[in-house]
Amino acid sequence: MIGVFDSGVGGLTILSSIRKRLPDYDYLYLGDNARAPYGSRSFEVIYEYTWQAVDYLFRQGCELIILACNTASAKALRTIQQVNLLEQWHKDGNNNKRVLGIIRPTAEVIGQYTKTGHVAICATEGTVASQSYTIEIKKQFPLLTITQQACPMWVPLVENNEHNGKGADYFVKQYIDSLLSKDKDIDTLLLACTHYPLLYNKIRSYLPKEIKIIEQGDIIARSLADYLSRHNELERQLSRGGQCRYLSTEQSQKVAQLARLFLQEPVEVEHIEIQMR
Ligand code: DGL
Repeated sequence: MIGVFDSGVGGLTILSSIRKRLPDYDYLYLGDNARAPYGSRSFEVIYEYTWQAVDYLFRQGCELIILACNTASAKALRTIQQVNLLEQWHKDGNNNKRVLGIIRPTAEVIGQYTKTGHVAICATEGTVASQSYTIEIKKQFPLLTITQQACPMWVPLVENNEHNGKGADYFVKQYIDSLLSKDKDIDTLLLACTHYPLLYNKIRSYLPKEIKIIEQGDIIARSLADYLSRHNELERQLSRGGQCRYLSTEQSQKVAQLARLFLQEPVEVEHIEIQMR
């Protein structure tokens, strides 16, 4: 089973692209809605929450977990990959358990979209402060000019189902104006937070036509397909029933309503409490 984790409902934008490309596997989605947003929290807290979620998903039988959250990928992935949690699981004889993030696969291709060489990154405060995108993109495309814009109000708008309301316009315009004032040559804007695709229409309306907006769903789905084709031992362990279950740390009806907006179909969400073992 493949686990997909986000602080809230944003990771559903990644999950649906992955399921379109790789429909045969079983998926377990976990949104930590009760503690979202993560974006403005400290490194320690984001790491701790993400670690708890990863451990929970492993205990449910996931062999592979995608952190479908840029903030968690920026703040917690490396530590989780390097230290205690995976080590602990590997000691217990589960050598094949893996956690993947979504920043590196995005950074590896983002340079292909720009003609001017000027790329904008819209993300949470945590992702921006970590500099993860700048560092990873520079490894692949050293000549690109990267301009970052933190958009701390966008995730709360989506998590509260206010992203289509009039209030959202104010904050979309504010951050887009701020971004454009920093670099006039931007021709590519990456939505580097999995919640932001729900604000796509509003973002589009405040952005000059010639600037492309790039979402991560397809990029991550392609990259996962490629990863699985290169890791046969892990791939063989993944169950293939085409099923997907949705878990949330928040009350399930509230999250189910929101999840329906992302997935455009009714979903059942199970409430869970994360406890460390
Ligand atoms: N979807 C998460 C991301 O991609 C949002 C983080 C948050 O909870 O603020 O960064």
